[in-house]
Amino acid sequence: MRYAILPAPHANVRYDAVQRELIRAELSILLGDAHPVESIPFAGTPFLCFDAPDEPFFRRLAYRLSAAYVVFEVRDGLLCPLDNPNPAFLPDDVSGVLKYKGKTNEVFTALLINLAVFSGDYANRFDQHLKILDPVCGRGTALFEALKMGYEASGVEIDKKDTDELNRYFKKYLEYHRYKHTVRQTSLTVGGKAGGTRFSYAFAPDAQALKTQPGCLTVVQGNSMDCPAFFKNAQFHAIAADLPYGVQHAGQDGKRPIPPALLLEKLAPAWVRVLKPGGAVAVSYNVHTLPTERARAILAAQGLKVLQGGAYDCFAHWVEQAVTRDIAVAVLE
Ligand SMILES: C[S@@+](CC[C@H](N)C(=O)[O-])C[C@H]1O[C@@H](n2cnc3c(N)ncnc32)[C@H](O)[C@@H]1O
Repeated sequence: MRYAILPAPHANVRYDAVQRELIRAELSILLGDAHPVESIPFAGTPFLCFDAPDEPFFRRLAYRLSAAYVVFEVRDGLLCPLDNPNPAFLPDDVSGVLKYKGKTNEVFTALLINLAVFSGDYANRFDQHLKILDPVCGRGTALFEALKMGYEASGVEIDKKDTDELNRYFKKYLEYHRYKHTVRQTSLTVGGKAGGTRFSYAFAPDAQALKTQPGCLTVVQGNSMDCPAFFKNAQFHAIAADLPYGVQHAGQDGKRPIPPALLLEKLAPAWVRVLKPGGAVAVSYNVHTLPTERARAILAAQGLKVLQGGAYDCFAHWVEQAVTRDIAVAVLE
């Protein structure tokens, strides 16, 4: 059967053209080599098309594309809309309501998570309750995107202003949508000293679901270098991180701003310790402050297998005048 995905357009026309290229590469990674992706216009709008059996697996996968708006079956040249079989774990706007300077765009964030999930050994479990970490989570865009996908999300952020705002927002959001929830706050020690604060959320639409199958979010205000002190070893199936670009955010090692390359060198060893074997890391960065070869070399130096060639070399893209973003993906074998 032929599937056709209508992507939601981005409001900025220049970025929309960029996004179309990104999601095409993303879809080839989601589908693998057996299902080539084509961009075909219907009524002047490009759709992403592929051939695959008429199975729920492929519907779920097509709707998992970061920018997927509606998925169709192409039958005798006509578009027949297909229902989205992926459960809605949280309302769609949870990652979009909060606006702030330095926020990573939601569609790009979903793409980053997808690359991390689909590049590792857990790809065929993409619709299960995997554990995802954003070790530089800002105000939580990746955490909210991961929760929407039905994952257990954990994040680390060094800036207390960001975690305060994230916590304020998420509590209000759960209250507004009348979700039953609990929040636990714990002080953390690292090497015998105060090392941050953990906020653990459990939430669900009703009291019964809160007992049996709660959504889980953990936010740590602390230094990502201390991930092994915050989380059990080898627990995450995937790590998605949008590093400071060296424009809005300078990287921090706990004391002073440091350049993104040095930050990645300091943080990557900590991330590897909390990643499960077979899990993957997807890191995005500004190539003007961290060239792709360097980012890949830093991940390889940690014993990770860097994925390159084909679609993995198609993610460098314009964001704004001082930012050209790229993604490095690597697997812990
Ligand atoms: C590009 S921003 C991430 C934005 C986030 N994706 C969002 O949409 O809110 C990078 C974040 O890394 C954080 N960061 C930098 N160094 C860190 C460290 N050592 N530990 C934890 N977070 C750090 C910065 O404070 C910043 O919030």
